[in-house]
Amino acid sequence: MREPFAITIDGPAASGKTSTAYQVAEALGFHHVDSGALYRAATAAALRANPAGNWNEPAVLVAARIVEMEARKASFCPLLAGEDAEGEIRGEAVTAKVSAIAKMSGVRDWVNAQVRDLADLHDVVVDGRDIGTVVLPNARVKVFLLAEARERARRRLLQRLGREGTDSELDEEAAKLAQRDALDAVQTVPAPDAIMLDTTDMSQAEQVRQIIDLARAAGASE
Ligand code: DC
Repeated sequence: MREPFAITIDGPAASGKTSTAYQVAEALGFHHVDSGALYRAATAAALRANPAGNWNEPAVLVAARIVEMEARKASFCPLLAGEDAEGEIRGEAVTAKVSAIAKMSGVRDWVNAQVRDLADLHDVVVDGRDIGTVVLPNARVKVFLLAEARERARRRLLQRLGREGTDSELDEEAAKLAQRDALDAVQTVPAPDAIMLDTTDMSQAEQVRQIIDLARAAGASE
């Protein structure tokens, strides 16, 4: 049997990694794995176990036992206690706490082991921060997505509000993103062999197309 093919897509918050990775996986017949969703699922599990949020690493790892990955058509998604929890893991309470939980080395090991187990068995497109550097350093295609902060803020607001943000909303969102970037900076580093893709002036379809072309050039087939 041939070796599974892995594509990694890393980059800062709101750079479009997750939706891009999903569409690339769908087009190639691969599975998308959103590593950020695993950090979010661990955080949601910890919040369920102890809403006051005084967690240490062992407590988070015990709470995270309710997380399992479910295979869907073009992705693997985390379930909490056997149920879809997409709204919960993307919610504000989780978003406010996830950077702190993602700093715990045991939690990073837990996420990385799950991603590697999936990549050992399936063709995957994995998005995150450190996938090309730490988690899957031998991936066949590595991409690092960049976009200017204000454009990332614009996309985030469009997604959340369903309309363009006003100037003050854009300023506020860009400041929030800068804060997130600072919290996640240590692990958000491009691999030396990653292809840097600045998507500031690119449409979603264009960035998906470019990554599919890179994957095909590296030997990926549907
Ligand atoms: O991409 P996201 O916003 O869903 O990520 C959630 C959090 O997890 C964010 O604080 C960054 C962190 N994360 C990480 O440290 N390493 C990854 N590979 C993916 C996400």
